[in-house]
Amino acid sequence: MFKLGAGLMGIGAVITAIPVIGFAMGPTRRKYANQWTSLGSLEKFPIGETRFATFLNPIKQPTDGESIKTACWVRCISEGKFQVFAINCAHLGCPVRWFAQSKLFLCPCHGGAYYEDGSRAAGPPPRGLFEYEWKVVDGNLLIDAGRLPGLEDST
Ligand code: FES
Repeated sequence: MFKLGAGLMGIGAVITAIPVIGFAMGPTRRKYANQWTSLGSLEKFPIGETRFATFLNPIKQPTDGESIKTACWVRCISEGKFQVFAINCAHLGCPVRWFAQSKLFLCPCHGGAYYEDGSRAAGPPPRGLFEYEWKVVDGNLLIDAGRLPGLEDST
């Protein structure tokens, strides 16, 4: 009876440990990195302007449906030089909106504001907007959509 009890406890311990180990190992399993996704032709992003863009998130599950459509803001600084911002506010994640007249990104939730280069201007956000890595290939702007911008990017 003692051996049976000890064996069941061992099985229970292993079953309990599996999700804990999976959580701890999560950051080492970056199988989605380098999912370069096109935002379209460079002509969509005029020099000196910031434009809204969408793409299909490569990190998806069969049940995700419409939620794989993801938005971002693209700023073309000069020819071949861009910034691609995550649409989510760095405070609690509400979608920010670009206002060209004031050259500010504004968050509707708690009044966070960001300058055109994505740096924090005012309000509760603790930092600037998160940015995607980007590159230009054959006249198209691509972002590494498999690598979600986040706090791990902070240095
Ligand atoms: S979520 Fe944007 S300021 Fe709070």
